[in-house]
Amino acid sequence: MAQSSTVIFARNLTRSLPLGDRQIDILKGVTLEVERGEWLALTGPSGSGKSTLLGLLAGIDTPTSGSLIVDGIDITRLPESKLARVRNDKIGIVFQSFHLIPTLTARENVEVPLYVNARAGRARQLAEEMLTLVGLHDRMNHRPHQLSGGEQQRVAIARALINRPSILLADEPTGNLDTRTGDAVLELIGNLRRELGLTVVMVTHDPLIARAADREVHLLDGRLVDGLDSRPASARAAQPVLEVRS
Ligand SMILES: Nc1ncnc2c1ncn2[C@@H]1O[C@H](COP(=O)(O)OP(=O)(O)OP(=O)(O)O)[C@@H](O)[C@H]1O
Ligand SMILES: [Mg+2]
Repeated sequence: MAQSSTVIFARNLTRSLPLGDRQIDILKGVTLEVERGEWLALTGPSGSGKSTLLGLLAGIDTPTSGSLIVDGIDITRLPESKLARVRNDKIGIVFQSFHLIPTLTARENVEVPLYVNARAGRARQLAEEMLTLVGLHDRMNHRPHQLSGGEQQRVAIARALINRPSILLADEPTGNLDTRTGDAVLELIGNLRRELGLTVVMVTHDPLIARAADREVHLLDGRLVDGLDSRPASARAAQPVLEVRS
């Protein structure tokens, strides 16, 4: 059984979809543990199943088989009403294309998850605090088209974190940004992770970003590649050191 410091525990996850009269197996048995506070980079070629896996971890999609425990809750077969609750309380998600609502201001975009969660009372104040935290205190009333790409991603990050989730999932969050802006967004995520004690799982194509993470796992054709350890850093450190034979 996973230790209590394990915040994501995925065992033998598969995801298959019907395609005409055939079936495509997108994930073919993924086992993964992520520890609280860890920053995990998820890499792999296009089509290897990274976004599909992130969707399962986020509770946006349901595995075909296998089990998934998020922050102590088995979400594998939760009814949608309860799953939505877990998603809202525990998980923030950020995408490559920022997915902001164009007609709303930055502040209103950040408020949206609070309305879903019926915590609207202090919505404005909470959204303003969050936007200040991501460095956008002077952009509260701008609409997405009035913001740069990096600023839009900051709004998306503020929105992802407004319910104070313990886990931030990010799918290529710097994929649409130039290197400098991307680096600034990464630095922001790193700072927020420390300040808020977040666990971060980030899909990336960039080997430099992957190396900056605590640990990298690599997907290839729906499977995690052998050789890269899929256990958290502490579990690996606890391994007894091989005795040197004399
Ligand atoms: N709804 C769907 N219907 C059919 N095939 C799908 C569907 N969603 C994903 N796939 C297929 O599953 C495979 C994995 O897709 P996924 O989006 O997870 O890859 P990825 O690793 O995120 O790729 P990229 O780096 O390009 O974003 C791909 O071959 C994709 O075509
Ligand atoms: Mg993808």
